[in-house]
Amino acid sequence: THARLSLDPSFVVAPVSRKTFGTFVEHLGRCVYGGIHDPGHPTADEDGFRGDVIDFVRELGISTVRYPGGNFVSGYRWEDGIGPVADRPARKDLAWHSTEPNTVGVDEFMRWAAKAGVEPMMAVNLGTRGVQDAVDLLDYTNGRGGSFHSDLRKKNGSADPYGVKMWCLGNEMDGPWQIGHKTAYEYGRLAAETARAMRLVDPDLTLVACGSSGSSMPTFGTWERQVLEEAYDDVDLVSMHAYYWEEDGDLASFLASGVTMDNFIEDVVASVDHVRAAKKAKKRINVSFDEWNVWYLTGEASQNPTGDDWPIAPVLLEDHYSVADAVVVGGLLISLLRHSDRVVSASLAQLVNVIAPIMTETGGRSWKQTTFHPFAQASRFATGDVLRVEAQSPTHETKKQGDVATVDSVATHDPETGELTVFAINRSLTDSVTLDVDTRAFGAMRLVEATQLSNPDPYLKVTVDTADSVAPVANPDTAWNGAVLEVTMPPLSWNVVRLA
Ligand code: AHR
Repeated sequence: THARLSLDPSFVVAPVSRKTFGTFVEHLGRCVYGGIHDPGHPTADEDGFRGDVIDFVRELGISTVRYPGGNFVSGYRWEDGIGPVADRPARKDLAWHSTEPNTVGVDEFMRWAAKAGVEPMMAVNLGTRGVQDAVDLLDYTNGRGGSFHSDLRKKNGSADPYGVKMWCLGNEMDGPWQIGHKTAYEYGRLAAETARAMRLVDPDLTLVACGSSGSSMPTFGTWERQVLEEAYDDVDLVSMHAYYWEEDGDLASFLASGVTMDNFIEDVVASVDHVRAAKKAKKRINVSFDEWNVWYLTGEASQNPTGDDWPIAPVLLEDHYSVADAVVVGGLLISLLRHSDRVVSASLAQLVNVIAPIMTETGGRSWKQTTFHPFAQASRFATGDVLRVEAQSPTHETKKQGDVATVDSVATHDPETGELTVFAINRSLTDSVTLDVDTRAFGAMRLVEATQLSNPDPYLKVTVDTADSVAPVANPDTAWNGAVLEVTMPPLSWNVVRLA
């Protein structure tokens, strides 16, 4: 079976946005404590940050890191986490039924972000708090001095402002589970007023309003409209969140999760543009897909502690990912890249231990999950412009998405370096598919490499001891005549083809 791709350097969707390769660190489970911060660990630095995790973060190639939540932020008092650690209060974290020791707060996170070479993307609490606390936090992070909060930051050891540019106005405020959950109108008003006040402190910000927590939310569609009717002029982006998992043994539908993501993005863009049309606005609101991943969210690993048990950094949401999960993550990356004209920022949720590409033992070893690889390759090799690909693919039937393309793909082309990269998944459970990539529109090209990630057992997961057993390897099955490249992709595989 063959699939064909017609590529042309002038079929540009948009430049690759580095912000597509963001992730997320929440005070949740062992993401912070035992994840990025583990003072007893042999690789920990003077601030208690794990060097092995920072090395993995660099290899993963991430741009932004959203912090400190998630559901956690909607009950968070940021000033609990500043000043001498011994004086910081422990608090109940109602979102995750845990105890937050506040050992790590905004100053520590900013130091970690600088060491890891990532851009912080902060969220403010619009659940139990509002405008005043948001502007105080902003002045603490970005103020130059001469005001109470900016001077407090200096007193706490950071003379220079952190200059945080991206801010989320709350988190999942449409969700009944959210502390301080609001109606669309209530939230839209609060988001608009918070945004206006924040811009008075620092006009040079990118502000993200909460969209829907998922396409199955009963308010999806009307939520975006109502929020933006109140806040359109004051915000820059609207958020999307989506998690995917295999249900009822239906692997074929799970592998087509990218189709579900495509539809969700296109529906959000339609809702947002509807408000634009009705307001006769020139400004276009784009999307921050600031939570996405595979998450088995009804599974045992995701059950909160209960009753009198309020542990610090419990094992929570520690999903272990399979080869199929990695192929799905690859498919979701293809969907995000394909929509780069409207999705300008995205965050894989999350970074360490909690539904994460990086796992650690507290005080011990660390390893890469299967999902690490597609993210790292896409982040590294997607450069220049995203190209629209004209694809002809065989199709197959799925229960959830109907007829889907067996091969899904996207390409990037860097006019400066001449690099052309094709990212593709084969969603067939049983059949190899040969992808024919016609490169004639690019002139003379050479094949740099073709890699594949697959395994005869789609459910194979790795552990700390077997982490190296699933990784991209050279695809032995390629044929290149200088004009058309034929790459045979095994069933259920993630593939990267690089030409220059
Ligand atoms: O990423 C885990 C949780 O998923 C986040 O805290 C929340 O925003 C979402 O529901």
